[in-house]
Amino acid sequence: MTGYEFTTNSPLETIELGKRLGSALAGGDIIAYKGNLGAGKTTFTRGLCMGLGMEDTVTSPTFAIVNEYHGGRLSLIHFDMYRIDGALSLETTGFYDYISDDSVIAVEWSENTEGLLDENITVTFTVPENAPDTRIIAITGDRELFESGGAS
Ligand SMILES: Nc1ncnc2c1ncn2[C@@H]1O[C@H](COP(=O)(O)OP(=O)(O)O)[C@@H](O)[C@H]1O
Ligand SMILES: [Mg+2]
Repeated sequence: MTGYEFTTNSPLETIELGKRLGSALAGGDIIAYKGNLGAGKTTFTRGLCMGLGMEDTVTSPTFAIVNEYHGGRLSLIHFDMYRIDGALSLETTGFYDYISDDSVIAVEWSENTEGLLDENITVTFTVPENAPDTRIIAITGDRELFESGGAS
């Protein structure tokens, strides 16, 4: 296990960090995001998409539940489990069918499918009090993901 903690002070910095993680991803990676509404999960995913070599506009999959981005080094499968509750419900999203060596999966509201995703990377977003443009972004992984090996 590796762990990293970063602080960003603007959406652009969060996108930049997402880009760094995106370029370190490998096929089959499953990323579980944790953090409240507005914490920066979708913003971070914009960078992830760029880091995988795609220029698509990433939008929130809240209503679609899953958005797919293809054409990069790996495909990006972006889930939002906001309206999902438990294993049976997860099954209906097709989550398990998306797991592939050619793709990475990133999951918003993974809290709703805790213990079911078998994620190997977690990204936790925290908004400090009285700092609306700051995000503490903690990343854990099953291998080294950033060369710095520690704080940003
Ligand atoms: N440092 C930051 N990183 C990411 N988003 C930020 C930051 N500071 C302010 N924001 C704002 O917070 C909101 C994050 O929204 P979004 O990425 O959709 O969150 P989530 O997907 O977690 O609900 C955006 O309105 C963005 O402009
Ligand atoms: Mg979102």
